[in-house]
Amino acid sequence: MLVPTLLEDLQRHGWLRFDQFMARALYCPGSGYYEQKPDNPGRHGDYYTNVSVGPLFAELLAFQLANWLEPLAERAGTVFCVEAAAHDGRLAREVLKWFAAHRPDLSRRLRYLILEPSARRRSWQMATLQAWRHQVEWPGSPTEHCPANQDAWMPLSPQSIRGAIFSNELLDAFPVRRLCWNPRIGSWSEWGVGWDGHRFVWILLPDSPEAQQEREGLLDKFGIEVPPALRAVLPEGFTLDLSPSALDWWARAAQSLAEGWLLTFDYGLSAEEVLQPHRRAGTLRAYYRHHLAPDPLAQPGQQDLTAHVIFTGLRRTGEAAGLTTVLHEPQARFLVRVARQWAEAHQGRLPWDRARLRQFQTLVHPEHFGRAFQVFIQKRLAET
Ligand SMILES: C[S@@+](CC[C@H](N)C(=O)[O-])C[C@H]1O[C@@H](n2cnc3c(N)ncnc32)[C@H](O)[C@@H]1O
Repeated sequence: MLVPTLLEDLQRHGWLRFDQFMARALYCPGSGYYEQKPDNPGRHGDYYTNVSVGPLFAELLAFQLANWLEPLAERAGTVFCVEAAAHDGRLAREVLKWFAAHRPDLSRRLRYLILEPSARRRSWQMATLQAWRHQVEWPGSPTEHCPANQDAWMPLSPQSIRGAIFSNELLDAFPVRRLCWNPRIGSWSEWGVGWDGHRFVWILLPDSPEAQQEREGLLDKFGIEVPPALRAVLPEGFTLDLSPSALDWWARAAQSLAEGWLLTFDYGLSAEEVLQPHRRAGTLRAYYRHHLAPDPLAQPGQQDLTAHVIFTGLRRTGEAAGLTTVLHEPQARFLVRVARQWAEAHQGRLPWDRARLRQFQTLVHPEHFGRAFQVFIQKRLAET
């Protein structure tokens, strides 16, 4: 189903840019990877996430959100929690459950919005959130067509949200463009996708002075500077995986925030880190049944594709939209601090069972999720 669609697109141009291929492979309604199974993150899927580890991540997040949102609710009356990448709705269910049990006053003043472009995933979320339907809304209409590439779906109007907008592993699932260093032209070429009659193959896209200039401009948006001394020694094929649609999404989320917090948990790097020698093959990865798969172009729609977020690009984008950067740190540091505050609120004890203690270890251990996942938070203060 997906392969004929991709071949049709390929026939039209002779090639596809990689982000166009990735957008279709992950998000084509009905046939894209994220349309296939509600339990894709988790034991029966291809990878684990903070959310699939168990309810503790949601409970820690809810504790932090409550501390931010309670003073805001005092002033504003109603506050919003806005989640993107809700997938099967598990995180929403656990956050709402925690608010109802531990912060009933806030819970009554809370509207929970799920940003979800897919009709199929909305139906999974509605099934999971049966008991919470009175509190949850899905703004905007679902997309009906295979996504072209850059148009990050975002139904919120500017300045419409007082509260928090958050996501877990949204931006590392956005399509990336793959730039590769070409010493012959002293600039960046770009990987695209072709078809050799049997399978999808990597091809270099046509170069032109305009294309090169556009790619240099892209680096600038992510805060990536390649000084002349580095250009002189950068090996041929050094690859940068950059997601302009992630920046676009972040900019529009930032603009929708009248007051409050914008945060994401994701795999990622700073602009300086992407230029380190061991990153020469870029950060694009394919996963199939918990294993790294060798070919990101194989079995489109059947394997997960992901690439690291460039946090420097997010920082610049949010600040350009008037947000202030609050923090960027490994999630272990963040979650340990939240847990400490939670314990302080309970006479020094955490009200966790053994399962939650195990979940905490997975979330903060550097060999598990503690170091690889980062948390990035910006906020917009009220105008006085
Ligand atoms: C790696 S999964 C993470 C799912 C879930 N947050 C978790 O942690 O288990 C990425 C999710 O992002 C969703 N997604 C991609 N683009 C989106 C967009 N523009 N708006 C909302 N969700 C999106 C995908 O459909 C998918 O469910």
